[in-house]
Amino acid sequence: MKFSISKLIIFIVMASVMVACGDSNNDEDSSTDASQDKEVLKMATSADFPPFESRDTEGNFEGFDIDLAHKIAEELGYELEIEDMSFDGLIGALQSGRVDMVMAGMSTTEKRQKNVDFSNEYNRSGEMFISKADASIESLENLEGKTVGVQLGTIQEEGAEKLSEEYGFEVKKVDDASILIQELNSNRIDVGYMDKTVAVGYVDEQGFVGFDDPTTVSPGMGVAFPKDSELVEDVNNILEDLEESGELDELKDKWLSDSE
Ligand code: ARG
Repeated sequence: MKFSISKLIIFIVMASVMVACGDSNNDEDSSTDASQDKEVLKMATSADFPPFESRDTEGNFEGFDIDLAHKIAEELGYELEIEDMSFDGLIGALQSGRVDMVMAGMSTTEKRQKNVDFSNEYNRSGEMFISKADASIESLENLEGKTVGVQLGTIQEEGAEKLSEEYGFEVKKVDDASILIQELNSNRIDVGYMDKTVAVGYVDEQGFVGFDDPTTVSPGMGVAFPKDSELVEDVNNILEDLEESGELDELKDKWLSDSE
């Protein structure tokens, strides 16, 4: 008798665990796959990168990518939900199916294309080194013995690693692009290395000086998706339409005009 009651209890516990697991799996499926849900389009970004994505004084997302994401969601008939995370975690969020797409000024590198799919490029930006005006750092040769800050997981991290051997500088990695600017202002790094469009904004706003990286030809920025996402084609069509209608240029004028 005793034996069978405990058996019964084990059975009940196991059965309820299985039900619970089944439930949570279903939840996950429907919330991560927008094509089933038809309501919410989950986008992840790293809102530390004006004029592409940042937060206004009230904490609302703003920027070129944010406006473009809203247009894309509208065209697709979805409600846009934005999740902020560190840039280094974005590819993983796509791979695990936690989000449907990423817009984060992300360059469409071959390396990333092994793990995610990209839309066609919607913008291009070179790379730039920026420093305080009195630092007299105007060329790659001047970087010798200096500390160059980069954002973790970016193409600049990889680029700086390569250049550092040739030009003899140290690379400091931080996971938030706005911290890079704080580090520069407080002299914890001598130089920041980042996308030109973003760098030019800081040069104008905070009086830094900079020079273009003469060594890189990086790919343009694209919207990233989990591998084989059905959204790729739809978003490419939408981007094409926005280009033809002139709306993409309007957005560029609004956000990127003085930084090219
Ligand atoms: N374009 C660079 C890259 O793809 C940097 C992007 C950083 N974006 C950001 N939201 N912090 O690696």
